[in-house]
Amino acid sequence: MSVLAIQTRGLTRRFGALTAVDHLDLQIEKGTIYGFLGPNGCGKSTTIRMLCGLLTPSEGTIDVLGQTLPQDAEALRLRIGYMTQKFSLYEDLSVLGNLRFLAQLYNLPGAVSRQRITQVLSEYGLDKLRAQLAGSLSGGQKQRLALAAAVLHEPDLLFLDEPTSAVDPENRRHFWEKLFDLCDQGTSILVSTHYMDEAERCHRLAILEAGKLCAEDEPKKLLQPLTGRIVEVEADDMRTVKSRLQKLEQVRSSAQQGIRLRVLLNPGVQDSLEFVKNHLSDLQMHCQLVNPSLEDVFVQVTRGARSGGRQ
Ligand SMILES: Nc1ncnc2c1ncn2[C@@H]1O[C@H](COP(=O)(O)OP(=O)(O)OP(=O)(O)O)[C@@H](O)[C@H]1O
Ligand SMILES: [Mg+2]
Repeated sequence: MSVLAIQTRGLTRRFGALTAVDHLDLQIEKGTIYGFLGPNGCGKSTTIRMLCGLLTPSEGTIDVLGQTLPQDAEALRLRIGYMTQKFSLYEDLSVLGNLRFLAQLYNLPGAVSRQRITQVLSEYGLDKLRAQLAGSLSGGQKQRLALAAAVLHEPDLLFLDEPTSAVDPENRRHFWEKLFDLCDQGTSILVSTHYMDEAERCHRLAILEAGKLCAEDEPKKLLQPLTGRIVEVEADDMRTVKSRLQKLEQVRSSAQQGIRLRVLLNPGVQDSLEFVKNHLSDLQMHCQLVNPSLEDVFVQVTRGARSGGRQ
């Protein structure tokens, strides 16, 4: 038995002249939460649609739960759940109506269907909303219904495409608790996100840009190479600080965050703090070494991809 839920080689999708997904090699282990992190248009949804068997690749191979796509798409349908980026349930059906309809699509026998619907209504806080039209739910309620719908048939593998984009921070936390519960019960999960805090929660993470895989690892390991390379500067004259630092080839990037400038140094610099201090020694300023974040990793690896290097 394969321990991989998903394996792709050279997965590519073109739309006319545009290569939306560009030779992706993915290996996603069963029983893990795997994240896709990347900017708008980098190919997250296109990849997910190919992995669900809804879109045919232009090139490459896909193995999902031991089945080959797109050939075995029908056999996989009942083993995967897909929460689309845009709410895709019936707005003019009630919460209960949507779940009943889906139970039929998934061919759940009557007794199982009733039992699962009761269970997800309670687990996803939808009991009191069961008679409400899906179209009149709030953003967070819609998202709970969409997740309940995606797991109704107890799939082995769940695809979640930016599931929390319309959700406040507290509900996002609850949502992630649900994902960890599902994962503990053995469900493999692939989730796309723009949120760094969500990306940090994944067991492994793929950073995508322009359809390409720029980096792939456990979040902690992605942070490691940046340790000792981020310096925060606080100064009265931030514009001068910024323009001076930006000219230096040792400075990978600098970005203002509130009253501070966050500076990422290139790997060759021996002592990042001393380096920045020396270059600003004539100015009134304070600087300190800080821990890297996934946002820094993102800047590092995606800039690398744009200039052709990876570092
Ligand atoms: N059916 C299509 N026809 C033509 N181009 C498409 C089609 N679907 C996607 N694209 C293009 O492919 C690229 C990748 O789109 P995709 O939706 O996969 O990005 P994404 O990473 O999901 O972005 P977002 O974060 O905005 O959801 C985009 O440039 C998009 O315009
Ligand atoms: Mg998308």
